[in-house]
Amino acid sequence: MRKWNFCAGPAVISEAVLEEVKSELLEFKKIGASIMEISHRSKTFMEVAEQAKNDLVDILKIPKNYDVLFLQGGATHQFSMVPYNFGHSNGQADYVLSGTWSKKAIAEASKITKVNIIASSETKNFSYAPDPKDWRVNQNSAYVHYCPNETIQGVAIHEPPDINKPIISDASSVILSEPLDVNKFSLIYAGAQKNIGPAGLTIVIINRDFMELGNQQIPNILKYSEHSSSNSMLNTPPTFAWYMAGKVFKWIKQCGGLEYFREQNHAKASKLYEFVDKSSFYSNHVDIKNRSIMNVTFFLENDQLDTAFLLEAEKNGFLNLKGHRSVGGMRASIYNALPLEGVEELIKFMTYFESNNG
Ligand SMILES: Cc1ncc(COP(=O)(O)O)c(C=O)c1O
Repeated sequence: MRKWNFCAGPAVISEAVLEEVKSELLEFKKIGASIMEISHRSKTFMEVAEQAKNDLVDILKIPKNYDVLFLQGGATHQFSMVPYNFGHSNGQADYVLSGTWSKKAIAEASKITKVNIIASSETKNFSYAPDPKDWRVNQNSAYVHYCPNETIQGVAIHEPPDINKPIISDASSVILSEPLDVNKFSLIYAGAQKNIGPAGLTIVIINRDFMELGNQQIPNILKYSEHSSSNSMLNTPPTFAWYMAGKVFKWIKQCGGLEYFREQNHAKASKLYEFVDKSSFYSNHVDIKNRSIMNVTFFLENDQLDTAFLLEAEKNGFLNLKGHRSVGGMRASIYNALPLEGVEELIKFMTYFESNNG
């Protein structure tokens, strides 16, 4: 039996998508094999790949002067691919430090280019995100990199910054949660395993003019322009994950697109934060203006009860609520495929646990 799954990633996938994939698993469209077992250059797979790309372009209203790449290596690979491509021009790049993932991006970029940390919330334990108004952008930097949703701390920067510089966003845990003005960015990357599909696929949305500025002296596998000119088939792409992402994109469209998910996701997050704020048994430590709509962190006032909470939650059908080991407490990741009902049931369980242990 499937349970309410609050995993931060790899995360819940819609049951409708899984059912459809199941029905096609042994044989895809009468070709005598599954989609996993055929060439990525076959007409059948090329059609699947192109349809997925077109649907993503539709959903996010990606302008024509951008390309969409379907890569491997996870968002972590982008931590180095970005500076390898763009860190050479001017030899420096601006980074915002707002949580664990931006810290990792900075560590990797520092091996490749000079990194300026232009704003940081580290001394406040990443309990808020530096406001773009306060970022000390350098005139000579090649780009500004930030993470709009820090998955581990549950800290978000909700509005794209208004900065006259190429902006690069690690949107791994927030992409497709609501509409996004792609024009504000030169490059957006995201590991698939939250709102897009299974792990193994990384989406890159890149402005074509910006892409042309990329360093040509690096290996092809690292060059955005090579991946783009080969339609993300420079080498064998993650075909099954790509196919599944296509199913998720169709499902997003059928549900009503990103406007629908914006409404749903804000409703889910508001309900949960409201409940936590009212309680003296649970608490959330993130500045209200920076609270994530995808990853809701919360703590039990008495952390001696953490283990009991998690055990009982699991017994009652709520999976993966443990906070990241570096932060402790709890985290409910409430991505697109986790319905409002799941959050309502979680609140009922949290109320019940409080009444038995408060
Ligand atoms: C915001 C963010 N960036 C980067 C990563 C790293 O992604 P991957 O494991 O796909 O390399 C994650 C993973 O959860 C993430 O949440």
